[in-house]
Amino acid sequence: MNKLMIANWKMNNVVLDCVRFMEDFVPKFSAKREAWIAPQALHFNLVRSMGEPKDVKAGVQNISDQLFGAYTGETSPKTLRAMGGHFAIIGHSERRQYFGETSKSCALKNRTCLREGIVAVYCVGETLAERDAGQTLSIIHDQLLQGLNDVHGVNPENLVVAYEPVWAIGTGRTATPAQAQEVHAFIRKVLSEKYPGVGDKMRILYGGSVKPDNVEELLSQKDIDGGLVGGASLKAKDFLALCGDK
Ligand code: PGA
Repeated sequence: MNKLMIANWKMNNVVLDCVRFMEDFVPKFSAKREAWIAPQALHFNLVRSMGEPKDVKAGVQNISDQLFGAYTGETSPKTLRAMGGHFAIIGHSERRQYFGETSKSCALKNRTCLREGIVAVYCVGETLAERDAGQTLSIIHDQLLQGLNDVHGVNPENLVVAYEPVWAIGTGRTATPAQAQEVHAFIRKVLSEKYPGVGDKMRILYGGSVKPDNVEELLSQKDIDGGLVGGASLKAKDFLALCGDK
């Protein structure tokens, strides 16, 4: 399966930063790996149109579980799809921490996205306290089963799981390749049991301080199929390196 790198720009970049990034990135991007970008929602269409010539796909960092109606401030998966959007990040730890999202609320979003033809990039990950208490795998297990509850019609193209240990996000502290691989293998096993014949072909991304100098070692692990990248995705040069284009 082709490796996938997703840029999560979070609430960074003004419009000019987005334009400059795309002007620098797109011509040099060789599609050795897939590149998807999640800018702030207001910049989505700009990134989508500038990325189109090289099939750099655009998506959003959060999505509604509803399609239409009186939901002030929300973004509908139907609208995203109609505008050429490809994917939505769901259940990022910052949304769980600051906006009260739970695996249960993520299940609704995952379901709605799949039904509407939006790829769900579902994020799971343990906190440092949970890791220190030896609970990593049970936390991940619960997040997977709850977040994918009643999520049907899954295939290797429409669902991506991202493992992002909370203690490694934006901290400069990366999980070692062995630590990440252990959890990825576990996620693969859970997905394969839940979705026989599909789970073993799905992409499982690692996220948490992925940088040009640690990406290759992480990607060389058997069950790491790409990265979900925050800080190092903000500079075109770094994101190119992450995509295998030096
Ligand atoms: P980071 O963020 O690469 O800055 O650690 C990753 C993420 O939050 O998706």
